[in-house]
Amino acid sequence: MPRPYFYVTTPIYYVNDQPHIGHAYTTILADVLARYHRALGEAVFFLTGVDEHGQKVQQAAEKRGVAPQAHCDEYALRFSRLWERLEIQYDDFLRTTQPRHINVVRAVLQRLYDQGDIYPADYAGWYSVAEERFITETEKDSGAFRDVRQLTERNWFFRMGKYQEQLIKYIEARADFIQPDSRRNEILGFLRQPLGDLCISRPKERLNWGIELPFAPEYVTYVWFDALLNYVTGPGYIADDRRFGQWWPASVHLIGKDILTTHSVYWSTMLFALGLPLPTTIFAHGWWLTGESKMSKSLGNVVNPLDLVDQYGVDPVRYYLTREMILGQDANFTLESFIKRFNSDLANDFGNLLNRVSGLIGKNFNGLVPASGELSEADQEIKAAADGLAQKVADAVAGFRIHEAIDETMLLVRLINRYVEKQAPWKVAKEDLTRAGTILYIATEGLRIAAFYLLPVMPQKANQVLEVLGAVGSAGEWGLLKPGTKLAAHEALFPRLEIAI
Ligand code: MSP
Repeated sequence: MPRPYFYVTTPIYYVNDQPHIGHAYTTILADVLARYHRALGEAVFFLTGVDEHGQKVQQAAEKRGVAPQAHCDEYALRFSRLWERLEIQYDDFLRTTQPRHINVVRAVLQRLYDQGDIYPADYAGWYSVAEERFITETEKDSGAFRDVRQLTERNWFFRMGKYQEQLIKYIEARADFIQPDSRRNEILGFLRQPLGDLCISRPKERLNWGIELPFAPEYVTYVWFDALLNYVTGPGYIADDRRFGQWWPASVHLIGKDILTTHSVYWSTMLFALGLPLPTTIFAHGWWLTGESKMSKSLGNVVNPLDLVDQYGVDPVRYYLTREMILGQDANFTLESFIKRFNSDLANDFGNLLNRVSGLIGKNFNGLVPASGELSEADQEIKAAADGLAQKVADAVAGFRIHEAIDETMLLVRLINRYVEKQAPWKVAKEDLTRAGTILYIATEGLRIAAFYLLPVMPQKANQVLEVLGAVGSAGEWGLLKPGTKLAAHEALFPRLEIAI
């Protein structure tokens, strides 16, 4: 049985950077999933936040000549403000400098230390300054890491290697734990080599922007060990057992494929050590690329989501990002494909359907939703498609195939457009007004249901459609559109973009 609650997380973003489309994507995706699950009647907890400790943030603050905390305060706001603009309905925004989180990190460190899972040792190895972690010989040779140097240091280690067998068995027994499948295989492949222990401290002389180890005050906690714990701080680990019991384990950690190992291996073994259940799913999505390369600040090829939203509105951006990327694969961001989707899906299909039905109802029925008479075969077909949508959307959402949930809904929209063309209610109205009324009822009710299932993706525009139809707050079942409802006046939903690329 699926659980009646849904706890979804995004990665917590580093505050060393302006948020870009890549960050916006994961957060929009989480929001769309959260909204779908709320619409399915589940209790939802949606956690996002920012990752404020560590070398990257310390360096970013130094570069700007401000104290790290002041830097974090400023940058955390950039994220939360962007989420507001993007209509992100999170339940909690966690900052790792908050006392509630520091308390959890310190309590966990103390507990693992007391139970013998954390020990001191000298460590010599290759260290990637850019990645802020020691890397293996193979990783060094791959050439994928920048700023690599030899480093010997006395540090504190988490006995991660001890949990290797347990982790392999765990992953092998569960097909849905690491998704998609290719990522699961990648991690199982990674776990074929012996798993070392994890260095979880940084001497303060090298880095002091972090959470002090409770048993060794000359050290701060490695930023990943600190950051991953956000997922349990959010729902109240240690602080509120009842609330924590209600939400943990998380239903899904949404992440980009760049942080798969830290989540699948570091985090899972930390949870084993704490005796906590693992999240049901870790889902790694692909990258937004510009041309062949990952969009990232260091490559200078980022798209600023605010510019896009200012120019085209929030809903088209949410729609494009979630419809265009097949979850799990990489996708290319181009303005050309954005405009194409806007014009074909939003202007021609969805916006046009609203214009048509409201225009025809205006002209032939004084703007009042007509009653539906007996249904013809063609009418039944639309009703059946609309009735079948709920299950299709629910299946797609449960399988993290958001693009498919959207596509199924847009298929209904296109089906209705073809139906209206074929039935030609503007002609029928001249001879048989009752029949024309039935056609328009069917088309409008189908549109209402499509709008309902597009609400998670386009909370503003889909709701605007429901406002026009006097159906805000209605559900996804057939027949809820009330005959006699006065349609509200409206502008074109998505005026076509006449932009030559
Ligand atoms: N702070 C860590 C995460 C800690 S989670 C306990 C971190 N932060 S980050 O700011 O670098 O953001 C990483 C996340 O942003 C990626 O995992 C991914 O979800 C998203 N993206 C960043 N660039 C991206 C693309 N170009 N494309 C898609 N998503 C990308 O890592």
